[in-house]
Amino acid sequence: MEAKGTALVTGASRGIGRATAIALAERGFDVVATMRDPAAGEGLSEEGGGRVRVQRLDVNDPASIVLPVDLRVLVNNAGVEDDNLPLETMPSEIWRKLFETNVFGLVEVTKNAVPLMRARGGGVICNVTSSSILAPVPFLGAYRASKAAVGAIGESLQAEVAQFGIRVVEIMPGPIETDMLAASDRPAGAIADEPYRALAEMMWASRQNIRDAYTPAPEAARRIVDAILDDDGPLRYGCDDMSEGMLEGWRMVASDDAWLRPMFDAFSISS
Ligand SMILES: NC(=O)c1ccc[n+]([C@@H]2O[C@H](COP(=O)([O-])OP(=O)(O)OC[C@H]3O[C@@H](n4cnc5c(N)ncnc54)[C@H](OP(=O)(O)O)[C@@H]3O)[C@@H](O)[C@H]2O)c1
Repeated sequence: MEAKGTALVTGASRGIGRATAIALAERGFDVVATMRDPAAGEGLSEEGGGRVRVQRLDVNDPASIVLPVDLRVLVNNAGVEDDNLPLETMPSEIWRKLFETNVFGLVEVTKNAVPLMRARGGGVICNVTSSSILAPVPFLGAYRASKAAVGAIGESLQAEVAQFGIRVVEIMPGPIETDMLAASDRPAGAIADEPYRALAEMMWASRQNIRDAYTPAPEAARRIVDAILDDDGPLRYGCDDMSEGMLEGWRMVASDDAWLRPMFDAFSISS
């Protein structure tokens, strides 16, 4: 697609969302940078060369989900993480909290976007999940499950809306330098749980090996915008060297695109 018209980003107060709002504006989009507290958007308009406007949107507050009628690109970026615990001790409130924002909130925003894009003949819906989906990382089951749910939702959505000229893109970030990455830079909470202590210590030691792969958010954002503009590209993308490498390795084994493409074709109705 051509980099013009209106794009909206959720969770644009900081991190990947904020950087993506700026990157979209730099390429030529008029950007609505949405966030729970608009005060956090101070400076964004200037950073985006005057093409960014800030709007309140909490993905868990349906009344706040007001999308522009000329929406061409939706970036579902808002997301939360929590303590990394073994399944047997992970409180159900944390499971619910992760799914509330990462899955149900994203679905609510997307439900509002589809009819708008359909009315205008198309657009791109870009869901930010996680490359951790591709690795069976211990203690990350709840977070990974919420992101994998979005992956499955995106696949079905692509099959539903391709006929309207809407493309779905899934971004699976690796370690991107944001508050979320900083907050996770400590041993998993599982370390306090005797049966899991040794595994948690091992995971913490192996975490030190990926520090070189930490990628600045503006670099991830640049690759996210490239993926959005890549009309004939695949469903899934990384946005840093580590996630791109993981995806490449996974494709060699699982060949996801070879698997999915004929089904997308079989389910498609030409527009
Ligand atoms: N950084 C990484 O290494 C990494 C890796 C894999 C995947 N991801 C994914 O990338 C996305 C962005 O992560 P990040 O690293 O930039 O995280 P971050 O720095 O923690 O920022 C998260 C953003 O989501 C917003 N948010 C949380 N709950 C929300 C809600 N109910 N409604 C609207 N916005 C909400 C936050 O808003 P507030 O400022 O109001 O809290 C913030 O803007 C997330 O989906 C995350 O899971 C990140």
